[in-house]
Amino acid sequence: MEVTLTVNDEERVADVGPTTTLTELLREHLDLTGTKVGCGRGECGACTVILDGSPVNSCLVFAVQCDGRRVLTIEGLDANGEHDRIQSAFIESGAVQCGFCTPGMIMSAYALLSSNPRPTRREIEEAISGNLCRCTGYVKIVDAVQAASE
Ligand code: FES
Ligand code: FES
Repeated sequence: MEVTLTVNDEERVADVGPTTTLTELLREHLDLTGTKVGCGRGECGACTVILDGSPVNSCLVFAVQCDGRRVLTIEGLDANGEHDRIQSAFIESGAVQCGFCTPGMIMSAYALLSSNPRPTRREIEEAISGNLCRCTGYVKIVDAVQAASE
């Protein structure tokens, strides 16, 4: 099945199967490997991308459901060769260890700050509650999102 969608402001066309997920479309068909696969079943948030303005677990979305839609991935945040303010804040706050959860965390933070530019720590915690990190203990991640909001 042919799918045409806009990924990071660029129109892309891919030939996918009926059960190909959006994660597989991005990673295997479009070579956008910044989106990570953790659990593959909606539990870890590593695969979070923005679909038509809302964060989704891309492992739970079929590629064919994305026909005609807009997707933003972690690669789209520094498309101009410079880090987005959230990426910079993660680096400056020491919010990255192994980095596996980081793209998904940042995309959830991006969705939060797009709709709520000055969130409280509680709102940040809620926004990233679907994103699991095994390394950092979350405090520095929340610090980073707060720093990005400032
Ligand atoms: S890989 Fe999609 S939620 Fe874990
Ligand atoms: S930095 Fe390792 S899982 Fe989050």
